[in-house]
Amino acid sequence: MSDSSQSPTSPTSPTSPTRSLAARAAALDAADQLADRRKLFALDDDTVYLDGNSLGALPRHVPERLQDVISRQWGELRIRSWDESGWWTAPERIGDRIAPLVGAGPGQIVVGDSTSVNVFKALVAAVRLLDPTDPARDEILVDATTFPTDGYIARSAARMTGKPLVPVDPADLPGALGPRTAVVLMNHADFRTGRLHDLAGITAAVHEAGGLAVWDLCHSAGALPVGLDAHGVDLALGCTYKFLNGGPGSPAFLYVAERHQDRFDSPLPGWTSHVDPFAMDQDFAAADGAIRGRVGTPDILSMLALEAALDVWEGVTVEAVRAKSLALTDFFLECVSAYAPPGRVRSLTPAAHAERGSQVALRCAEAPAVMETLIARGIVGDLRRPDVLRFGFTPLYVGFADAERAARTLGEVLNAVPAETATSAHAPG
Ligand SMILES: Cc1ncc(COP(=O)(O)O)c(C=O)c1O
Repeated sequence: MSDSSQSPTSPTSPTSPTRSLAARAAALDAADQLADRRKLFALDDDTVYLDGNSLGALPRHVPERLQDVISRQWGELRIRSWDESGWWTAPERIGDRIAPLVGAGPGQIVVGDSTSVNVFKALVAAVRLLDPTDPARDEILVDATTFPTDGYIARSAARMTGKPLVPVDPADLPGALGPRTAVVLMNHADFRTGRLHDLAGITAAVHEAGGLAVWDLCHSAGALPVGLDAHGVDLALGCTYKFLNGGPGSPAFLYVAERHQDRFDSPLPGWTSHVDPFAMDQDFAAADGAIRGRVGTPDILSMLALEAALDVWEGVTVEAVRAKSLALTDFFLECVSAYAPPGRVRSLTPAAHAERGSQVALRCAEAPAVMETLIARGIVGDLRRPDVLRFGFTPLYVGFADAERAARTLGEVLNAVPAETATSAHAPG
């Protein structure tokens, strides 16, 4: 078929949306300062991996580093590695590697345990920081739309400390703050919609009300600048297996602002947060600094896989990552508008950059079937039941051509999967 015989909407026509968006993607990729990072990751060209907001991809050099940890450090040096291979100090050393990515000075972050466990430590410790100063300040406010684990643990922490728990929609938070506000636990970016909450403004409002702000950074650490120190956050935590690429179940991190460290009273004071662990003292005396957030023996294999994974950040700023993330998500949304049949998907992710994390969430009545087909066709996002398609954008390894291909395939899949009802409840917008 010759060019002259093509209709204006043929995919190969010079004026077709496919061709112009594909050409734009190629130009954007060619100008992308971070494009060279992709080769650091174990990814194949057949797959567009848009699930780094769930499990980050494997940096290629990690298996070899972990092989050394297993064969030499563990296999040959054995117990000597606690000192000679730096195992003992890994939680605070790796915390200091994460610190610049979330805007924290050194000595305020330790790595260890799961995010869930760190939510517990942070919430109870925050209540204990306030209790002696103002017992009437009793409410624990929790993001009502939170990832469930934070809500479950907040409920348990409230029961244990005898405080009322108040679930609050983030949009209603300003009106819920007052003289009873003790601690507020918020997600920086919402796991379902990708909405970014105003960490600076909310932290300031919580402080104004006299409370303490605890932030869950699972969906922002490694995706965008957080500014923990600059915004005066009290305590924070986050996982390392999403945008920090630490591997499945890699240990979480806990931030304890320097000004709170002397009075940080962990509800899980294990022997490794003791000032002199090998004294084997029956009485607990807390170590100085963020080390107070440690509990038991660090999970060295996972921790050192994370430490190796952080090498991909050498020479990269989180500001550059953020700029690319916004450009990628803008471009993906534009491609979805061009390719998706009208009325079949609606973006839940805010259009305003200040309110957007590093994922795009699309509401779609046929989401389960659509995501299954997308994955079978090499576009790996995920599903949040019942009807949300999530696409995570990790700027270190996702490019603009990936975004265009993902949106184009989504359009094809939507055309192939019949709409659930003739008049979809999910209008475009
Ligand atoms: C916002 C948020 N908090 C917590 C978690 C999970 O916590 P954990 O690492 O303990 O499984 C997730 C997991 O995706 C999450 O998105």
